[in-house]
Parts: sequence; C-alpha cells; structure tokens
Amino acid sequence: MAATIKDVALRARVSIASVSRALNGTGAVTEKSRQRVLRAATQLRYTPHQAARSLITRRTRTVGVLLPDIHGEYFSELIRGIDKAARERGLHLLVSSSHGDSGEAALALSSMNGRVDGVLIMSPHVDAALTLGSLPATLPTVLMNMPASAGDAPTFLTDHYGGALAMVEHLKALGYKRIAHITGPEGNWDSDERLRGYHAALGRDAAGHGPVLKGLFTEESGYLAGRALLAATPRPDAVFAANDMMAIGCLYAFTEAGLRVPQDIAICGFDDIPIARYVTPALTTVRAQTTELGRQALDALAAAILEAGTGRGQRQVLGTQLVIRDSCGGALLARREPASFARGAGQAGFLRKTRVDGEMEDRPKQ
Ligand code: ADE
Repeated sequence: MAATIKDVALRARVSIASVSRALNGTGAVTEKSRQRVLRAATQLRYTPHQAARSLITRRTRTVGVLLPDIHGEYFSELIRGIDKAARERGLHLLVSSSHGDSGEAALALSSMNGRVDGVLIMSPHVDAALTLGSLPATLPTVLMNMPASAGDAPTFLTDHYGGALAMVEHLKALGYKRIAHITGPEGNWDSDERLRGYHAALGRDAAGHGPVLKGLFTEESGYLAGRALLAATPRPDAVFAANDMMAIGCLYAFTEAGLRVPQDIAICGFDDIPIARYVTPALTTVRAQTTELGRQALDALAAAILEAGTGRGQRQVLGTQLVIRDSCGGALLARREPASFARGAGQAGFLRKTRVDGEMEDRPKQ
C-alpha cells in the first residue's frame, strides 16, 4: 500500500504539520527535522496525493487542453507552444481530443471538471456553443481559433482570411489563371475563413476560380483531391490547399502521376508545419505561428486563473506570413520566356529572384 503523510511523520518522528511544511517549503521547520522528513519520504517512496492536496489548496496546477484532433504536425506544434509556456509556470497539461464532435467535447470537458484550474479550448466546428455550454461558468477558459459567436472568453486566432488572401494574390501575380482550392472539413471555422480569403482574392474573376474540392485536413484527403484534380477538365494550373498536410498529399498524387511541380502545376499550403520545407519541391505556404498561438493562449489562461475575468472580450489575431519556396515558382517565366525556361536556366534564375531573404515576405495590407 502507498505510504501516507502519517507514515512519514511516524518515521521522521515529527508532526504531520511539520511533514507538510518540510515538503512544501512553507512555514518554519528546523533543518534537522526537514532532513529527517526528506529521508523518511525517500525511504517510504512517499509522494503527496494530488487530489487530497488540491482539496486543501484549491489548485490543481493543471490546465485542461481540448483540441479537435491531436494527429499531425499542426497539433504537435500547437501543443509544443502550450507546453513550453505551461512548464515555465510549473503547470501541467491534461490533453484531450474531441475528434471534431461536440458530444465528445462535452464529455471531455466534464471529465476535466475538478481536475484542472482552467481550460484551453480549440473547437473550430461551428457548433462550438454546444461545447462551451458544458463548462462551469466560473472555470477560467481561453479559446483558440473560434468564431466571435463562441462567446466572450479571451480568444487567440490565426488570420486565416488574410493569409489565404495573400497566398492567392501571390499565385495570381505569378500568372496562374485557374486556381483550385482544397478545403478543410465541412463546418470547420479555420477552413471556412481560408475559403473566404480564396474567394476574396479571386473576386469576380469566374475563370480564375478553379474547382473547390472538399478535404479533411489530412494527407490522405489531399491525395484523393489531387487525384480528382488530375481528372478535371480543364485542369487547374495551381492548387491552394487549406493546410500543408493536404498540400503534401496532393503533391504526392501529382508526382505519382508524372506531373512536374511547379512546371506543370503549382501547389501551395497553409500553416508552415516543419515538414513543409523538406518535401520536394519545398512547399510554398502561409506561416501561421501555431506554436506562438499556443504559447499566448496559455499565458492568457494563467492570467485568468490568477484573476478571474482577465482578458474577457479580447480577440487577439496573430498575423501570417507568406513563405515562398519552390512549389509555385517559375510559372510566370515559363509563360513569358518558354525557351529559357525549357533549358532550366530561367527557372533557377527566377527562383533565386523571387525567394525572399529568410523565406519571408510580408503580406499585402487588406
Ligand atoms: N490547420 C489549421 N487548422 C487545422 C486543423 N483543425 N487541423 C489540421 N490542420 C489545421
């Protein structure tokens, strides 16, 4: 049976209160007693019972994190930011996934009740209100990437719309004439905002709108959309996928079919997950500052735990940056100077010219 605080007190020949003071570093206890307590606790392998401790301190030093999914680099980057900020504050994480389902989200949140000091929620599905309805009103809460209709809890979000707009403007400037789009899951707010940016950039240019295909934010759905686009007539000359994982799946479908990217068709994504720069050709994308989003959201939650109501009504938008790599380059030159492009020299020169130092380019103002 696990040792209790009473066992430690008996072995160390001190009171229970002295054991508590010695282990927590609070209150007066002589150095001799402290050493005896530490020795007894080690010998008995005593660790404080966190639930019992929470009842006394009314703090769990744990925060709940509810995400729509935990698969893939997008979420590992997000959790990395949350975890780093939590560790700096001596907080621990209890992570759960709703699998995009409001019922599962409600269950996960109710199982966290009493075990956490606050919750960070990313529930980009439009029925977010249902998810939030299962939260005790007094539990400090911070939201990530959720629409304004989700409530007045402090919210941190990516500029999905602006990032998508800048990317499609970039494709247009390169001379692409028929730009397809692969969306994220239906009813997903991130995806809807990125789609809105795509349409805004193309405006009334009916010809510029390539087909819009439904994806699921997964590599496989990108691959399947890529296969479908290969069969489309006329075939698009560029594809903007709503996230990098789908862009990478789509790229695979194109190269598998023998197409050259970007000479035959361009492809770009959104998020700038770590793998995006290591695929061939390296992926042009929109950097979404996902780790920073997690870090800032955790900081805000820590503030709301310390002082109820902190940040209420705040909507903090994190800007995006266009990251120009190789998967869309060269197309303009190929059209303007087909001869030099065919020899390859033109393409290399073009890529060198368009690559912006540090791979960054500021997005145009809206
Ligand atoms: N990129 C932005 N939002 C995402 C999500 N919910 N899943 C995967 N990739 C994403």
